[in-house]
Order: sequence, then structure tokens, then C-alpha cells
Amino acid sequence: MRRQVNFRANSTSNEKGQMNGRFAGKVVLVAGGTGGLGRAVSIAFLQERAKVVVTYRKEEEFVALKNAAGPHASLLRGHQVDVTNESAVRQLIERVLGEHGRLDALVNAVGAYAGGVKLWELEPSVFELMLALNLRSGYVLSRTVVPAMLKEGSGAIINVASKAAFDHAGGAAAYAASKAAAVAMMDSLAEDLKGTGVRVNSILPSIIDTEANRKAMPIADFAKWPKPEEIARVILFLCSEDAKVIHGAAIPVYGNT
Ligand SMILES: NC(=O)c1ccc[n+]([C@@H]2O[C@H](COP(=O)([O-])OP(=O)(O)OC[C@H]3O[C@@H](n4cnc5c(N)ncnc54)[C@H](OP(=O)(O)O)[C@@H]3O)[C@@H](O)[C@H]2O)c1
Repeated sequence: MRRQVNFRANSTSNEKGQMNGRFAGKVVLVAGGTGGLGRAVSIAFLQERAKVVVTYRKEEEFVALKNAAGPHASLLRGHQVDVTNESAVRQLIERVLGEHGRLDALVNAVGAYAGGVKLWELEPSVFELMLALNLRSGYVLSRTVVPAMLKEGSGAIINVASKAAFDHAGGAAAYAASKAAAVAMMDSLAEDLKGTGVRVNSILPSIIDTEANRKAMPIADFAKWPKPEEIARVILFLCSEDAKVIHGAAIPVYGNT
């Protein structure tokens, strides 16, 4: 089903009317860049003049993002790629490097949630899906982009994990385990990359105010939920020069939820 797009990238000014261009000329890959959070991240980078490459699965989601990008749509590219498939991701990165010659940031916003089922009732296929989307995606993407970033001596990787990586509620064993493993993997990668100029961080959302969550929990108080645009601002900060001393962190972005 086509997601509603609530905003348009029709301005390059922030709320104070100042021009934003922190990422002018930079090339950013947003995996899952058409999703509830990924779309806000893609738009935020476009508003700051980055060249944004997104991966998606559903064509209509990319069309919706392109429409939302408004005047910045020419800076946007999209590729229908399963990011758990290593050879497909390798081809994608070769294409991005062929077209742009560099890759400055990777945001992995691919992921999925499965919950409400006790571990002994959890289908093996769901367990495998959680590992594939929440853990393997980050492994495949990182191992493919890191060599290019090392050549440049700079780069930023943000992996979207979850509060559930630390806060292990019942009924979500596979989800919690996959997100905890993703944080551990990024921590270890950060150690591997110390001193190289390539920075790696995780962010930890809890519930986000996405259309899908509103539909799933219609009587909840949406006002308390962090907005995708608010989390996107943290991600852009982490990818910016201002965050050059932040490396190997897992940053909570769950406000008061
Ligand atoms: N939403 C929340 O409340 C919440 C809370 C905590 C953590 N998170 C985490 O935040 C991240 C983003 O969540 P979200 O709510 O934005 O999820 P979402 O709306 O479901 O978006 C996920 C995105 O990933 C894409 N995707 C899924 N599987 C893929 C694959 N194999 N290859 C390539 N792309 C794939 C989807 O593409 P298609 O739509 O085309 O399938 C979509 O663009 C996830 O890691 C999630 O676990 C979310």
C-alpha cells in the first residue's frame, strides 16, 4: 500500500530561514530510504544538497519519495535492491562509485519488527527474517562500503538499531536479539576503524511516529512519539563534521517514550 507523504522538500531553508548546505556535493546512501524513517532521512539530506541514493523494494514507495523531493528530485537516485543480497549490494556500490566517484555516508534504515509471540512459538522463518533485515543488512552494506570509504580516508556509517537492543521486552526475542547483535557488530566495526577517518555509530529509536505505527496503534497518544524528521536531524548531525568526535556510540533517540 502506498504510504502517505506528509511533507515536501520544497525549501532549502531551516526553520530560522537560514540556508542549509552542509552536505552539498556529498554522496549519501540511505538503505531503506523510502521507509517511514528512511524517507525523512532522505529528504533531510536532499534539503542539505546531498546527492542521495536510496534502496527500496516497492517501486511506488520510490515514486512517492521522488514526488516528495520536489525541487531536489534531480539529486535523488533509487535502486531496487535487496540489501541482504551481497552480490546485488556490491553491484549497487560499484554503480554509485562509477556515477559519483565517492561515497561519504551510509545510513542503514532497513529493518523490521516481529513481536507478540513467545520464543517457543516463534516461527523459524520469522527468526531468520529478523536476523536478515536487522543484522545481515548492516553486515552486507558495511563490508561493501567500508573499502571505498577507507580509500577516501573519511566516511560516516549510521546503523538504525533500536532501544530493544538493550531493553529486552518479552515476546520479541528475535527482534531484540537481532538489534542487540547489530549494535555489537557496529561497536566492533568501530574498533576496527579507529584512526581511519571512517566513523560508525548506531542509533536507538523506540516507537517512531510513522503512518504504519499510527495504523497499528490507533488509540495511542501520537504526540509522545518522536517524529521521523526529529530522528533524521540526529542522523544528519552524526554524519556531519560537527560529530567528528563521535565514533562507536549507540545513541538513544527515543525522547520520553
Ligand atoms: N518504526 C518504529 O517505531 C521503529 C522503532 C525502533 C526501531 N526502528 C527501526 O528503524 C528502522 C526503520 O524503520 P521504519 O519504521 O522506517 O521501517 P519501514 O517503514 O518498514 O521501512 C523499512 C525500509 O526498508 C526497506 N527494506 C525492507 N527490507 C529490505 C531489503 N531486504 N532490501 C532493501 N530494502 C528493504 C523497505 O522497503 P519497501 O517498503 O519497499 O519494502 C523500507 O524502505 C528499522 O531498522 C527499524 O527496525 C523502527
